[in-house]
Amino acid sequence: MFGREGFELGEKTEHARGKSIGGHAYDGAKTMRAVISGGAGFLGSHLCDYLLERGWEVLSIDNLVTGAEANIRHLAGHPRFRLVRHDVTKFIDVPGPVDYVLHFASPASPVDYLKLPIQTLKVGALGTHNTLGLALAKKAKYFLASTSECYGDPNVSPQPETYWGNVNPIGPRGVYDEAKRFAEAMVMAYHRAHGLDTHIVRIFNTYGPRMRLNDGRALPNFVHQALTGQPITVYGTGKQTRSFCYVSDLIEGIYRLMQSDEHEPTNIGNPQEITILEFAERIRALLGATTPIVFEPLPQDDPKQRCPDISKARRLLHWEPKVSLEEGLQLTLEFFKKQFAETQAR
Ligand SMILES: NC(=O)c1ccc[n+]([C@@H]2O[C@H](COP(=O)([O-])OP(=O)(O)OC[C@H]3O[C@@H](n4cnc5c(N)ncnc54)[C@H](O)[C@@H]3O)[C@@H](O)[C@H]2O)c1
Repeated sequence: MFGREGFELGEKTEHARGKSIGGHAYDGAKTMRAVISGGAGFLGSHLCDYLLERGWEVLSIDNLVTGAEANIRHLAGHPRFRLVRHDVTKFIDVPGPVDYVLHFASPASPVDYLKLPIQTLKVGALGTHNTLGLALAKKAKYFLASTSECYGDPNVSPQPETYWGNVNPIGPRGVYDEAKRFAEAMVMAYHRAHGLDTHIVRIFNTYGPRMRLNDGRALPNFVHQALTGQPITVYGTGKQTRSFCYVSDLIEGIYRLMQSDEHEPTNIGNPQEITILEFAERIRALLGATTPIVFEPLPQDDPKQRCPDISKARRLLHWEPKVSLEEGLQLTLEFFKKQFAETQAR
């Protein structure tokens, strides 16, 4: 679909030809143009929607390794949106001016990055280098989607940005954690060496519509098992905690950070902590499922606690999450039920 309607790298855009791309002027001056890597993914697609609603032009670069066209199908034909299929570990050439480069491309769920270990390391290292190079060449601002996984299996809770983390570099999860830690180091180096205007968000577990039912993260896993009548699998004792941020809250925090003067990493997440067992029980009850909860061994290096300290985001961005877990789960379960019914009907 987008292969025909979009354009390939190297082809000139309307913007590059100096024509107006439509949409309203930003700040009364010009239309802002963002390049988003990973724009067909769960978070990237919500970010595309958010910026388009505010009058931006968005060029999304994605190789669809873990993303889906379905996430951006509603944007097909949008005059200010394009998708280019491209692997950002390869050189990126975008014609025309760019105001902001946002690097969101990376396998992000444990199932994905354990299946794609080398691609994960490459997109964190080479993908970050290439997107930074694009920002530098275009004199654009830069934004990195980093992760709470930089804290590893933390010895401190909640985790403030000043905590350096407890990561096993050579364990199976190291491919993701270390790729993101390297990416952060590279972004700070570009900021210090080249004076690039950079921003880094450390995203904590986020949920919402457009997550994949089979992506292996706790919420889609539980929902899929409940909807298909399978036992719900909890790893370990289920006493490990997570904190879940609804996607609209996260995107609002990201937008505020994009506009701030803060260059060092900033946590964005919901500090409401819940054990994985309570979470599984909550989803089972909301879906009216009667299947049992079964316990399986904890995967290696699985963090026992995960809770953001968001004092910095509160202070600098005047941001805090607004959507309660009850409300967010309802919206997400509606999406999953619809998606499930559609796949059953096929
Ligand atoms: N969802 C979360 O809770 C969460 C938490 C912490 C950090 N993050 C970070 O946010 C970003 C987005 O995560 P998500 O949950 O939307 O994951 P996702 O898998 O849904 O989206 C990632 C997107 O990147 C694309 N991609 C991967 N490698 C690529 C490459 N080499 N070239 C071009 N495109 C490529 C995928 O096809 C996909 O569309 C990731 O960088 C992830 O590390 C997400």
